[in-house]
Amino acid sequence: MKNFFSVEDVINVYDIINESLLLKKKPFLFQKIGKNKTIGLVFFNPSLRTRISCQKAAFNLGCNVWVLDINKDSWKIEMDDGNIMINTQEHIKEAISVMSLYCDILAVRTFPNLFDKDYDYNEILFKKILLYSKVPVVNLESATLHPLQSLADVITIAEYSSFFKSKCKVVLSWAPHIKSLPHSVANSFSQWISKIKEIDFIIACPKEYNLHEKFSNHAKIFHNQYEAFKNANFIYAKNWSSFSNYGKVIDIDDNWMITEDKMKITNKAKFMHCLPVRRNIVVEDSVLDSNDSIILEQANNRIYAAQIIFLKILQFL
Ligand code: CP
Repeated sequence: MKNFFSVEDVINVYDIINESLLLKKKPFLFQKIGKNKTIGLVFFNPSLRTRISCQKAAFNLGCNVWVLDINKDSWKIEMDDGNIMINTQEHIKEAISVMSLYCDILAVRTFPNLFDKDYDYNEILFKKILLYSKVPVVNLESATLHPLQSLADVITIAEYSSFFKSKCKVVLSWAPHIKSLPHSVANSFSQWISKIKEIDFIIACPKEYNLHEKFSNHAKIFHNQYEAFKNANFIYAKNWSSFSNYGKVIDIDDNWMITEDKMKITNKAKFMHCLPVRRNIVVEDSVLDSNDSIILEQANNRIYAAQIIFLKILQFL
């Protein structure tokens, strides 16, 4: 694998899930491959899971790791070309080029701005990172996609469905939030799920929150959460801001919070969320803390999702 930007960089999703599960059983199987190799983790935005699971994945492969939180530990970066840099100290071109000299794989997180739809949905910033890096690049969440999260999500669903053999109705449900959040988890999850033919995939959201068709066109879309939840085996809750009214939080009449009562409509569904989650805004405590909540397993699988991707790239070097 040369770069990892999206599911399109994976040859076969079933194979990569299987290989991830093998790594989960034997995490140190490829410890020698990372000898004298360094992975650089660069964050333009906050992170808990991505940052630590990638470090753990790199250690499992015997790699060295460095981490840079750009906003806390570095110069103020100029993202645009041609500007007179009065308020910024270092251009993205030099920053990425230089950081890529200090590692064998460069992994980067850059959230969307959520006001310029074309800039975000054309992945202008991540394309610059791919252009300026002299080493393979891994997407730790870009403007529109969060592929390592989605890989962890499909690994988790595979584990809880006997590798998609048992009934597998998966509902990605929009849930409320007070802030304007990216679409990347929902877009990316939808993209990965589309590669797994055994999954009956539904997106439940208010009509004001329809996702970009490019990512949602293979899903059944429900604007009634109760209808969508009937017989579901997995409920994946996530908030995202509006796509049509780009980046906005729009008031809606119904309450879309995931509650214990709504979970009772499902077929004893497992509850999923990528975290972090705002309790009692997105989901009730009792759902999050129930035996059917598999949020920690999802978070744990972030290690093996990152590890298999780093391994594929190391094997290519
Ligand atoms: N789910 C996820 O990406 O978590 P972090 O933002 O904490 O990395």
